[in-house]
Amino acid sequence: MSPQINLEEEFQAKIDAEIKIEPKDWMPDAYRKTLIRQISQHAHSEIVGMLPEGNWLTRAPSLKRKATLLAKVQDEAGHGLYLYSAVETLGVSRLQTIEDLLSGKAKYSSIFNYPTLTWADMGAIGWLVDGAAIMNQVPLCRTSYGPYARAMVRVCKEESFHQRQGYEIMMTLMNGSAEQKEMAQDAMNRWWWPAIMMFGPTDAESSNTEQSVKWKIKRHTNDELRQKFIDATVPQAEYIGLTIPDKDLKWNEDKKSYDFGAINWDEFWNVVKGNGPCNKQRLEARNNAHNNGAWVREAASAYAEKRAKRMAAKAEVA
Ligand code: 3HC
Repeated sequence: MSPQINLEEEFQAKIDAEIKIEPKDWMPDAYRKTLIRQISQHAHSEIVGMLPEGNWLTRAPSLKRKATLLAKVQDEAGHGLYLYSAVETLGVSRLQTIEDLLSGKAKYSSIFNYPTLTWADMGAIGWLVDGAAIMNQVPLCRTSYGPYARAMVRVCKEESFHQRQGYEIMMTLMNGSAEQKEMAQDAMNRWWWPAIMMFGPTDAESSNTEQSVKWKIKRHTNDELRQKFIDATVPQAEYIGLTIPDKDLKWNEDKKSYDFGAINWDEFWNVVKGNGPCNKQRLEARNNAHNNGAWVREAASAYAEKRAKRMAAKAEVA
């Protein structure tokens, strides 16, 4: 038997035995490639995901709300840095990874290409988007690639705060005036369907799921996590008096879960392909931030070079 087949068999045996794959371990090129793909897109999503909420930092209704939102947005930046570091362990440069985002080549989560029109959107994003992210990220704490799994443990602890502060905003609005209730329901109507699209295409349409499940990168399929999210979120909406904008949503006693309406996959793929309401605006913002921050990167690398020269000169003398 060829040594390559042996290596692949040994690799799969490690995966099946729940042994974490570490950066220095042998791994199939395709495993490395799909991890670089998924983790880099995850990192991009965290960073681009700061923009919709960043839009409301200066317009939060109170200092407390502003401080909470600021803490959340800062957390997302940290999640992005964690994940960019995890991608680097697979042998790709951070600069190249970021260039791929800035050039529009790399994907990031579709959900961040929708506008945030009112304060209630901060509630809907925290509750629904971070709620969906938790559903998807908790299983990733057990993903087969060690650095990714470890990064997810810290990320998930912070995500639960994100989800709760969002739900608390929606609860406050639903206990408020008629206008506030209307604002919360309007945000629910606009964010429900894009949030359930976050889980990706159906399992039948997904080009990566089957292999990712075999390699235990994914512990559940897209449809399984989407269903879990819907089953968990509908009672939360009902508890605070919000209506889910899906006339086909119905409890299925046999399945012990909700049946739900058809997802607009044309809308999903249109957004993924770059034609969503805010795709251009998001990329522009990221490119502006990158260009405006060039002087910081230059100063940091100039300092590092100077320090390295000083250390080398010292070592020569010693
Ligand atoms: N947005 C954009 N592209 C998407 C997508 C989405 N919501 N869902 C799927 N896609 C893309 C995939 O990247 C893939 O394209 P590619 O092969 O060119 O990369 C194609 O559509 C087919 O989808 P698959 O289901 O086959 O792809 P995956 O197996 O990668 O599954 C995923 C998609 C479930 C998003 C998976 O990549 C994943 O679990 N990623 C890690 C978690 C993540 O990135 N979450 C995004 C949000 S992060 C977030 O919300 C942060 C929070 O703090 C707010």
